[in-house]
Amino acid sequence: MLKALFFTIVLAGSPATEDKDLKLNESNVKEIVNAMTVEEKCELIVGGRAEMFKPKAYKKVKAPGAAGVINEIPRLGVPATVLADGPAGVRIRPHRPGDDRTFFCTGFPIGSLISSTWNTEMVEEAGRTMGSEAKEYGVDVLLTPGINIHRNPLCGRNFEYYSEDPLLSGKIAASMINGIQSNNVGTSLKHYAANNQETNRLVNNSIVSERALREIYLRGFEIAVKESQPWTIMSSYNYINGEHASQSYRLLTEILRDEWGFEGVVVSDWGAGYDEAAQVAAGNDLLQPGYDYNYHNLLNAVQSGKLSMEDLDRSVERILRLALKTNRYQGYEYSEAPDLAANAEASRKIAEEGIILLENDDKSLPIATDRKIALFGVTSYDFIAGGTGSGDVHRPYVVDLKQGLDAAGYSLDEDVKAFYEEYMADEKMRCDRINGDNGWQIDRERAIEVTHKELIEKAALTADCAVITFGRVFGEGKDRNYYYSYLLSEDEQRLLETVSKAFHKQGKKVNVILNIGGLVDVYSWKDMADAILLCWLPGQEGGNAVASVLSGKVNPSGHLPSTISKDYWEEPSAGNFPILYADKPFNYSFYRQLDGRVRDLIKNIDYTNYEEGIYVGYRYFNTFRKKAIAYPFGHGLSYTDFGFDQMGVEEAEGGWKVQVRVTNKGEVAGKDVVQLYVKAPRKGLDKPERELKGFAKTPVLAPGESYVAEIFISKESLASFDEAAEAWRLEPGTYTFIAAQNSLDNSQKTKVHIR
Ligand code: BGC
Repeated sequence: MLKALFFTIVLAGSPATEDKDLKLNESNVKEIVNAMTVEEKCELIVGGRAEMFKPKAYKKVKAPGAAGVINEIPRLGVPATVLADGPAGVRIRPHRPGDDRTFFCTGFPIGSLISSTWNTEMVEEAGRTMGSEAKEYGVDVLLTPGINIHRNPLCGRNFEYYSEDPLLSGKIAASMINGIQSNNVGTSLKHYAANNQETNRLVNNSIVSERALREIYLRGFEIAVKESQPWTIMSSYNYINGEHASQSYRLLTEILRDEWGFEGVVVSDWGAGYDEAAQVAAGNDLLQPGYDYNYHNLLNAVQSGKLSMEDLDRSVERILRLALKTNRYQGYEYSEAPDLAANAEASRKIAEEGIILLENDDKSLPIATDRKIALFGVTSYDFIAGGTGSGDVHRPYVVDLKQGLDAAGYSLDEDVKAFYEEYMADEKMRCDRINGDNGWQIDRERAIEVTHKELIEKAALTADCAVITFGRVFGEGKDRNYYYSYLLSEDEQRLLETVSKAFHKQGKKVNVILNIGGLVDVYSWKDMADAILLCWLPGQEGGNAVASVLSGKVNPSGHLPSTISKDYWEEPSAGNFPILYADKPFNYSFYRQLDGRVRDLIKNIDYTNYEEGIYVGYRYFNTFRKKAIAYPFGHGLSYTDFGFDQMGVEEAEGGWKVQVRVTNKGEVAGKDVVQLYVKAPRKGLDKPERELKGFAKTPVLAPGESYVAEIFISKESLASFDEAAEAWRLEPGTYTFIAAQNSLDNSQKTKVHIR
């Protein structure tokens, strides 16, 4: 009690300094910290409150609709810092009261498409564009990229994330961060860590082994931190082995800063955690969006001595250093008018790069532009650009597939088109009424699929081929349902069956486009289609991007960032994922326990066992169930064929330089990806059959042209985490380096001995 009183007397009240000329600059950060009152320090650490709760606080901030703000302290020259989502582009409000201008942002493709490019240069370029848009809209930190592992295909936020593999996730994230930050705009690598389900997301406890954490769930973060130094990292909502992620000293300080050298600010996910003092003491510097109770709890904690001034100051200093880096601090006069036309091109370019050709029997694709297409499926006429929740973007338009095909010069079967246009006019009205326009509906109402048998049979006589699109959209706050989201619905199956039968009877091809945010079952119906194109949610230029690939203007070069299994129930995490609850109207995710106690009542709701350990995705399938794979990790066809030869492995400083010659053996130009897997000796530590350790995308190769891809493999990256020794261990023995076109392929192999 006495102690508390003492602190109250010493800390509260007037500023520690009255120097009116003292303003923040590079060299006086510590002086500024000393000059701040404890209230100011708490104001800085606790964000400027969510706009929805404190609209007035936002009046001064120039990016309405941004997710958060760090408070300004004008007397010390500390500017506000504006934080906005997200992974598919800048998320701010497109309209402002009393202003005729619009503030739309470019809708980029979702994270899973971005990683499907396997093209770090192009991702960096997309990042540069996204970052420039943030800069022009006065956004200081873009809350992206999200790199949680695709542990289970039904996680409702997989679309925002990159892959089941940590190396691909980490490398793509580093490129994205480097691109964005080249504009002096920060990023927030999220959600750190092991946040792989949405159900009960605020309090779910991920029970995961140390080895799986290190090798799978933290590895991507480690790579991205070391290769790109994001300005911020977002700690996640969940608990890990009983400890809240945002309150874990080990995670946020020992591993992140001491081991990996992270120099930036850790920001809590919006409303994460329950003990402000524990958060700051653990190294969680910033609490967003910041509620009044956060401020009072934090102030009380300092005044009562529960949180030391040293801990508080450390976070304050980090936040000040973040503010110093921003364009806002540097007085950049942003235009609020980015070049949306040029940025749309950038969005289209990366969309085209990440589209994956899963299947192409008998060269069903490409389709020459003088062919007549019968275009089926409600999604063809209402393409999905992105997912819902904070990963959504207020984009100016979405090009649907019909528009894309029109623009590419195709003629569409008029009867089919007229039928859908009429049907969709009503359906869109119905859906819009239910959805509203705020983008937060987790399950967006979508048009009901329809099958008109006579129309289909007639079109099979007159059109040259059929194209059908199936769509899936979902987002933050809920996981997907196996029956309604993973499998094709009965309506969709009926349409596919009817079209397939009618067109195949006439000897004509059926091409399926998957316009989806996360993987769906393909295996059970793939024989009904000749070609299958996975275009993910390809952003606002989606219809144009898909048309470019359908016509062959762009030769597809996307590759799967996650395995498609033959059957969901073969997934290594199938029994340890909350799909049984996903169709309940109450989705649990907003249920929270403010006392922070971990409940252990309901499996997959209160806690989730990561029983599969390191055996996630292809690591599992390759090691134990090759036969259960429908399309392997890394799979992606092209309109041409590539061959690998002349593999060479040379010792280099800290590892090996691997070279592989790639030759275009087909008749059209295209790009390929060399995937470098390593098979480790399985002596001491348990090892997956192989693991991705490097990759390289070729430039466009003309028919007959060769290119030597070069990939560096570091020695360190071959080590495994030895739980007993609590350290990384590189086992001696014979390692096989495999240059492959997917995780099942063995194109070229070289043995390397490690003593
Ligand atoms: C999400 C974050 C997002 C934040 C701000 C949270 O609900 O989990 O990914 O950046 O909101 O919108």
